[in-house]
Amino acid sequence: MKYGRKILEAVTGYVPGEQPVDLNVIKLNTNENPYSPSPRVVEAMRALGIEALRRYPDPSASAFRQECAKRYGLPGTDWVIAGNGMDELLSLVIRTFVDPDEKVLAPYPTYSLYDVLCKLHGCEMISVDLDGHFQLPERFYETPAKLCLLARPNAPSGVSVPRVDVERLCQGFPGIVVIDEAYVDFGDDHCMDFPARFENAVVMRTFSKSFSLAGMRIGIAVARPEIINEFMKVKDSYNMSAFSEAAALAAVKDYGYMRDNVERVRATRGRLHTALAAMGFDIPESQSNFLLARWDGTPTAREIFETLRDRGIYVRYFALRGLENALRITVGTDEQCGALVHALAEIVRK
Ligand SMILES: Cc1ncc(COP(=O)(O)O)c(C=O)c1O
Repeated sequence: MKYGRKILEAVTGYVPGEQPVDLNVIKLNTNENPYSPSPRVVEAMRALGIEALRRYPDPSASAFRQECAKRYGLPGTDWVIAGNGMDELLSLVIRTFVDPDEKVLAPYPTYSLYDVLCKLHGCEMISVDLDGHFQLPERFYETPAKLCLLARPNAPSGVSVPRVDVERLCQGFPGIVVIDEAYVDFGDDHCMDFPARFENAVVMRTFSKSFSLAGMRIGIAVARPEIINEFMKVKDSYNMSAFSEAAALAAVKDYGYMRDNVERVRATRGRLHTALAAMGFDIPESQSNFLLARWDGTPTAREIFETLRDRGIYVRYFALRGLENALRITVGTDEQCGALVHALAEIVRK
């Protein structure tokens, strides 16, 4: 591109999962929650009225941040920043703490947006391969960088590294450690206590998955106030709309509603895992709302993906090293997963 920046020549851009217009598709490809958000969210947005459109929103979403501090047992509102989805906060953490030419550390495989954001910023991402069980190898702890991005649970494996490994990482790493907890509500434990214990720890959460609010674009980062202050300098003035803030506030207040939906997803996840394993798929124990189903036989994983797609069932296939023989499947409702299992049984039997 004649007018483009030099740096962009090497950037392909992030490729999100397909968002079909046809609402009849069984959509198990982008790790959305199959259940509706809390009715209180809808009420709160309705109650906002026309004035909220005319005025600028609260620049720092204080009411929502205050509620998060309460909910997550943080010392104060100044330990939280809210964002237009976690993706914005991931971009923000790189722009805030990494100079172009400095290095960012991440495991491989992981959320592929990390690499795109680094390239866009002009910094190098060092990818260290996870071991065969999707755990951190020794080399991960020995690689210095300015920032470390660690998804826990990781995507697309769904596997969480033990908390003690994250402790060891925070203790030894010379820069900021981001613990990306996008999927953590579906897991057995979390690291929300880490920012209080480690000065370099930043925990990020999204409301796209467990709270069923992917369309609203809501995320938070939790860290010590010195770190949050730096974020505040770099973020857009009004990075969260009035509607997002109202939705986020209502959602976090109705926490029990989210937990009930999460329990339903976890129960379905167990049933789906058992059914797929019985068919011969090899699946690591998932702490998230998706399964990485590895398949060595014929048809190939890519062919299965395409056949499912033709039948109106969307799952995710990554043409990436080490993932060629795998499908990432979002846990939907029991009915959706039943339809998937039924279709797969026919496809792999052929
Ligand atoms: C590991 C991980 N982190 C962050 C995100 C982004 O979340 P959000 O929808 O809040 O931008 C995703 C979304 O798929 C994800 O998989």
